[in-house]
Order: sequence, then C-alpha cells, then structure tokens
Amino acid sequence: MSLTVYRKAHFNAAHRLYRKDWDDSRNEQVFGKCSNPNYHGHNYELEVGVTGSVDPETGFLIDMELLKKLIREEVEEALDHKNLNVEVPEFANLNPTMENIARVIWDKLRKHLDDKFELSVKLYETPRNFVLYTG
Ligand code: NI
Repeated sequence: MSLTVYRKAHFNAAHRLYRKDWDDSRNEQVFGKCSNPNYHGHNYELEVGVTGSVDPETGFLIDMELLKKLIREEVEEALDHKNLNVEVPEFANLNPTMENIARVIWDKLRKHLDDKFELSVKLYETPRNFVLYTG
C-alpha cells in the first residue's frame, strides 16, 4: 500500500526572468512582465508530497513535524522575502521560473529524505499558474 501525505508552505519572493545575453526588448518579448528590470514579487504557494508506506507501528508515513522543519529550513528560510536572482545562489545562473524554482526546491528536500520515499513538489506562482515536479 502506498499513499501520499502533503505539507503546504508559503513564501514571498522577488525575481526577474531574463537572459543576460538578450537585450531588454527581447527579454520583454519572451518573459513579459516577469522581465521587469526592477524585479517584482510573487506569493508562492507550495505543496510538498511524500509518498511511501505507512509504518504499522506508528500509523505514520513520515513524521509531519520533521517534514515541516525540513521545509522551513530548506525552503522558507532560503527563499522567503529574498530576491531570487540576487540573493539565492542556485539562481545566480539559472532563470528563476516557477519550473526552475520547483526543481531547486525538490533537490534541496530530496537530499534530506530517506530513499524509501518519493517526493513531489507542486509550486503555485499565481493562483492559476503552477507546476508539479516529481524528479
Ligand atoms: Ni514573475
């Protein structure tokens, strides 16, 4: 039997989507408002899913306190109220699209999770735009 537990989290962050090797007009053409050279913010909503088997002894799949602490330390403390392009090393040379942010979050969490679990990261950049990354 396999099931998935979820933990929701939230962070606010600023970004700019652009390529350094493109001029402002091409960046604006491709990335639209998200290419504003003065940056802008999003309220990111996160859903972290951990899939595995229930421990018959505890009835838990994973200790949710542990998952909460992991998300706080690896995601919220690293990204909340940050300028992703400027302050978060993972995005120094990586466009902080929701796709790439989800992959970075997945990588950061994956290395702290037991191999017996599968991990999914769903990230909402706006209430209507979101991405699911499962590795
Ligand atoms: Ni944006």
